[in-house]
Amino acid sequence: MIVTHDTHVIDTLDFSGATTYGDFRDDLARDGYAVVKGAIPRQKAAEYVERYHEYLESFGLGYDRNDPSTIREENLPVISERGMLGFYGVAHEDFVWDMRAEPGVIAAFETIFDTEDLIVSFDQINVTFPNRKDLKPNKRWAHQDQDPERAGLRCVQGIINLLPNGEKDGGLMVLPGAHNSSEEFHKLFKDEPQLYRWTNEVYNFTEAGLEWLKARGFEWKKVNCEPGDLIVWDSRLPHYNVSPQGNQARFASYVCYGPVSTAEHADLVRKKEAFESYLATSHWPQALQTAGHLKCLRPDGTECPYARNEPRQPPQLSERAYKLTGIPYLQARA
Ligand SMILES: [Fe+2]
Repeated sequence: MIVTHDTHVIDTLDFSGATTYGDFRDDLARDGYAVVKGAIPRQKAAEYVERYHEYLESFGLGYDRNDPSTIREENLPVISERGMLGFYGVAHEDFVWDMRAEPGVIAAFETIFDTEDLIVSFDQINVTFPNRKDLKPNKRWAHQDQDPERAGLRCVQGIINLLPNGEKDGGLMVLPGAHNSSEEFHKLFKDEPQLYRWTNEVYNFTEAGLEWLKARGFEWKKVNCEPGDLIVWDSRLPHYNVSPQGNQARFASYVCYGPVSTAEHADLVRKKEAFESYLATSHWPQALQTAGHLKCLRPDGTECPYARNEPRQPPQLSERAYKLTGIPYLQARA
């Protein structure tokens, strides 16, 4: 289901440059993104890496973390060339929920939005192995994750990074500072024919748009980070991801929190249904887009015989994590 109503513009970040926060918010406001160092302790990040491997091995398709020759499409669940693993109810696996409930991750978003009353997206994870010859190339897919007709700060996205992630490793590419030119850009390009987009809350840049940004002096940058770091970015920031050039795998998780005050009653109802049905959502915590139980197709077009609509290990949510589903707020509003 795709909902197209507006969400509130968030006013807790000052983009004018007049405010100094003394923390990662200075980077976020100026550059449109920030790396929150050590949002998850190193040891915990290493444990999540093991849980990723265990999950991939649990399909019984032949993947073995100790045997690189098993990094092949037939030995793995369906993962796109961009590293997206979103089927199989993975959005509600226990290890994915445990990452969403990490105190340091939640604290970063509480700081951004100046509230503890947050809801979280039910988004997918990223598993990108290096040296894949059996996947189509991951071409540049520069985009914003926000409707160009709805200006202002409305969403802050996040990536929990679990493995070393340097210049040549797969990961997030951004155009620092371009979030602050988004409104100007879209005024100029409003009559341009739009590229295909699956929801209005996405904008895909054409070559002409990218040329304009380049002429304005914006330059692409790879965001480097360490295990346990959290990357946060304004959804207006142009971005995409790249595949590894070296031998390092990328394990990451997409997390996006927003103030519950930005969700309407119907959003929370839809979110509750998604949670109880183990449905994934896009990055929008208001569940503006729920994926439904899509057919899990392998690259040859056949349905994955291992497709399932519920997680292997359903989550055991703490009280804090359960609040992030939005359900307690729905009950409180009733
Ligand atoms: Fe994106």
